[in-house]
Amino acid sequence: MILNQDIEIIFVEHILASIAFLISVLSACFSSGRIPSHIPRPPYVKSKKPPGIASGPEVHDEKGIECMRASGKACCPSSSVCWDFSEGAFLIISSLYMPVFTSTAKFHLSSGESGAVSAVEPGITTDEIDQAVHQMIIDNGAYPSPLGYGGFQRVSRVLEDGDIINIDVTVYLNIPSRFWVVFNAFTYSTDCDVQGYHGDTSATYFVGEVDEEARNLVKVTTECLDKAISICAPGVEFNKIGKTIHDHADKHHYGVVQQFVGHGVGRVFHSDPVVLHYRNNGRGRMVLNQTFTIEPMLTIGSINPIMWDDNWTVVTEDGSLSAQFEHTILITNDGAEILTQC
Ligand SMILES: *[C@@H]1O[C@H](CO)[C@@H](O)[C@H](O)[C@H]1NC(C)=O
Ligand SMILES: *[C@@H]1O[C@H](CO)[C@@H](O)[C@H](O)[C@H]1NC(C)=O
Repeated sequence: MILNQDIEIIFVEHILASIAFLISVLSACFSSGRIPSHIPRPPYVKSKKPPGIASGPEVHDEKGIECMRASGKACCPSSSVCWDFSEGAFLIISSLYMPVFTSTAKFHLSSGESGAVSAVEPGITTDEIDQAVHQMIIDNGAYPSPLGYGGFQRVSRVLEDGDIINIDVTVYLNIPSRFWVVFNAFTYSTDCDVQGYHGDTSATYFVGEVDEEARNLVKVTTECLDKAISICAPGVEFNKIGKTIHDHADKHHYGVVQQFVGHGVGRVFHSDPVVLHYRNNGRGRMVLNQTFTIEPMLTIGSINPIMWDDNWTVVTEDGSLSAQFEHTILITNDGAEILTQC
């Protein structure tokens, strides 16, 4: 039984907290680049050392699954509030209450139809894309997971006509449910305040006019991801993912990068299993309610990477193009549900 007095206290607390939340959201919207104070940080942020891959798979109960769906959604521009103007600028309404211009970023992130994505304008810098995606993530109430991850440093460069670019969005969502209900920008409500959850997705976009060779690489890479997702189900061996991707890449004479892998994702950013995209004899099997990423990276030429001195930037040794697509998926009774479909 709850006493009336308690209800009153809770109510006052709720209003005060809601006002504080509104103020912080408003300040977030007008102070791009910073993380508003109401957004919880993942635990690794203060450490300079990469946290590595946590042991044990991510398997969830019903509530955990809802939280995973929420963090998957938080990787996307707020649903149906993305307009494409003739110049390619886009506008996000961050919640039901306030329209926000997220710079004049000349790209369009809304398309989940991998391969069909277009519209990153030549001349834009990767920093500008980073800023706009950063803003989108905090507008969704989430934290951009790679920020503060093991000393991660970004480099900026100008994108040129004919480039292809992979935009990788990983978020950490940990929103107290009472705020969520009041300021719900999405069509779901969750109760994930005990524990944050990560969602992870990426897609390759065309910059201006892209030649046939690059277009085909992008197309085949998205087909590899789709085919790999389609074979997932409880009891299926993880090595079937590698075989599926490698077989399809071989058919088109593309290389499959081995040094970068998919991974369990959920309460932590990176956990077991390591998901290999090439043929292998790994023995693990998928289980019901497990979440992990699949993120094949294909190349036209060499699959060998060269790491720059910053310890983060990686290029193919022959400078040839590579493309990548990624989704976070949930293993269900029927197969797999894509949690990061925008
Ligand atoms: C899997 O998730 C469902 C909810 O979709 C839940 O009812 C069930 O208990 C979970 N099973 C396991 C083994 O975690
Ligand atoms: C990169 O890693 C090497 C070896 O761990 C280290 O000596 C070097 O200082 C690192 N460079 C940067 C820029 O962090």
